[in-house]
Amino acid sequence: MISITDLFKSFGDEAVLKKVNTVFDKGKTNLIIGQSGSGKTVFMKCLVGLLEPDSGSILYDDTNFTALTGHQRTDIRKKMGMLFQGSALFDSLTVEENVIFPLEMFNKHMSRKEKLDRANFCLDRVNIHNVNHLYPAEISGGMKKRVAIARAIANSPDYLFCDEPNSGLDPQTAILIDKLISEITEEFQMTTVVNTHDMNSVMEIGQHVVFLHKGNLWWEGTAEEILTSGNKEVEHFVYASELMMKIKNTKRSS
Ligand SMILES: Nc1ncnc2c1ncn2[C@@H]1O[C@H](COP(=O)(O)OP(=O)(O)OP(=O)(O)O)[C@@H](O)[C@H]1O
Ligand SMILES: [Mg+2]
Repeated sequence: MISITDLFKSFGDEAVLKKVNTVFDKGKTNLIIGQSGSGKTVFMKCLVGLLEPDSGSILYDDTNFTALTGHQRTDIRKKMGMLFQGSALFDSLTVEENVIFPLEMFNKHMSRKEKLDRANFCLDRVNIHNVNHLYPAEISGGMKKRVAIARAIANSPDYLFCDEPNSGLDPQTAILIDKLISEITEEFQMTTVVNTHDMNSVMEIGQHVVFLHKGNLWWEGTAEEILTSGNKEVEHFVYASELMMKIKNTKRSS
């Protein structure tokens, strides 16, 4: 579980997060949604410690992450898996070496064979087979995302962070990636946080959805609740596409 209290982050005069409060539960896929520039990435970077909030607190279970500094954070960092925008695999490493990389960083005691076994387990779990020795440039965009997910779960994280995991994928592949993230979240009982501006993702895997607007946590609820939020800004986001607007109007007139 991750508990966020009064999280505030500004850059100069621009307040990007204005006292955000929420709780991300274990075993759930928690989505952060909002328009471009609403602060999703800044929020996630604060959660993982890549940015320092000005004030407020982030608790990982019972540990106050914000109160810790530098190496004191290592124990919690080890429990985090991250999937950043564009999958960000290392181009000069093979698929297998990419997944072994985090194991090398945090598991000095593991033998080479154990690392290989773990990498193969993770690749198998995301349905990637027979490409261990290929380079990222030699596999498709959807496969790259799967490999990046395998790498993110290599160290059996308790907390998984994914910033726009669907970007650049066709809608069908995007849904498969969403479902994969949601399945492994439940299977491995991780606390997962996903940034997205894709309404398909919200409807497919939105167990807990947090809507950011102008730095505020404007609304939160489930995928079902978001369709009838009654909130102007949320509706504007949800029904931004003509297709969704038609569905909404059809429902209202029937
Ligand atoms: N390092 C930084 N220095 C100054 N301003 C920043 C920095 N990082 C982000 N910002 C500002 O914070 C605001 C929120 O940016 P952020 O990247 O979190 O948005 P986002 O919701 O992730 O958008 P997108 O959907 O396009 O990824 C923007 O106005 C951005 O310019
Ligand atoms: Mg972003």
